[in-house]
Amino acid sequence: MSSVVMTLEEVRNKAKEKLKGVCMVYKDCDGNPTRFCQGQHYGRPLGFGGIGSGASFHNNWLALRKIKLKMKLVETHFEPDTTFHFFGKDLSMPIMGASVTGVNSFGGENVIAEREFCQATVCGCIEAGTIAWRGDTYTYSLENSYGLDAIKEAKAGGVKIVKPREQNVIIEFFKKAEEYGVTAVGVDTDGCGSYMMTKHNKPVFKKTSDDIRELVNSTALPVIVKGIMCAEDALEAVNAGALAIVVSNHGGRVLDHTPGTADVLPEIVEALKDKNVMIVADGGIRTGYDVLKMLALGADAVLIGRDIVRAAIGGGSVGVRLQMDYLRETLKKAMKMTGFSSLAEITSEVIEV
Ligand SMILES: Cc1cc2nc3c(=O)[nH]c(=O)nc-3n(C[C@H](O)[C@H](O)[C@H](O)COP(=O)(O)O)c2cc1C
Repeated sequence: MSSVVMTLEEVRNKAKEKLKGVCMVYKDCDGNPTRFCQGQHYGRPLGFGGIGSGASFHNNWLALRKIKLKMKLVETHFEPDTTFHFFGKDLSMPIMGASVTGVNSFGGENVIAEREFCQATVCGCIEAGTIAWRGDTYTYSLENSYGLDAIKEAKAGGVKIVKPREQNVIIEFFKKAEEYGVTAVGVDTDGCGSYMMTKHNKPVFKKTSDDIRELVNSTALPVIVKGIMCAEDALEAVNAGALAIVVSNHGGRVLDHTPGTADVLPEIVEALKDKNVMIVADGGIRTGYDVLKMLALGADAVLIGRDIVRAAIGGGSVGVRLQMDYLRETLKKAMKMTGFSSLAEITSEVIEV
């Protein structure tokens, strides 16, 4: 797959063909309420849009769109350095593939098989100098853990996020992750609302700080808590030993009418200012300009969801690599045009309201 020469435009056109009836692969994946993927589903499984009215998905995009960047140019020329250190791995950028799973949400095995999707995402991210996170859904089990298999085969690391299943099941997944060369593990606490998990007899639960502590103590790997949308939850997770949190509303797929993630990020960053923890953010990030906004609001790194799915469907690992390269190059451009030569220099001063 990697030898096929494609452009990002070709990848998108291919994805549009394959995703007919699921996603229109609009130029800007903005969760606008009039978009094809959006709208009430009345008990049908969630497709590719947001839950309910789709407001949470759209709010992610709106929260980023309203931020403006201060252009600053008169100084000595430099080429920005986007390299990022993630739990022992040197990445070419602070941008990773999000833990998206469940090809049934985007057309099923006729569009792309779960195994193929995981391999394309993991390998494409590695080819771009970064790593992919892999998630968990009702078709996954300890025996069929497609994301873990893809990470093991690629031998270059990755992150495994497990749904908030029974504690002993999560711990088994973490053990397997340790054996498979995974970089870090975690739980998407917001997955406790998953209708599909419950329907398929894979119960999911809210987790207490004691539960999180038990998970932290069960593994030698760094533990991440994903699905944080308020300062209280962030503090609970970090005090329980989480080494990273993800400010995320699951791409607007778990609760209708939440704010955008960029709206809540500053108060979470403020609450964690004395803690030694990595802050990751996702939701509606489509370009390096959006990445710079999240970093300026205090995130250390970001995840990309839907755009990576489309890239994997349109061009396999090549598509994912091209999408990730695009994100890194637009981040570089954004940093150059706003006066930051390294990630450590980025501050909220770049934001103009
Ligand atoms: C179809 C789909 C499936 C997803 N599955 C998972 C999952 O299994 N585990 C998880 O932690 N997050 C999951 N997510 C959420 C993503 O990891 C991420 O938080 C979100 O997609 C980021 O927003 P974006 O799509 O606007 O970039 C899923 C998102 C989508 C769109």
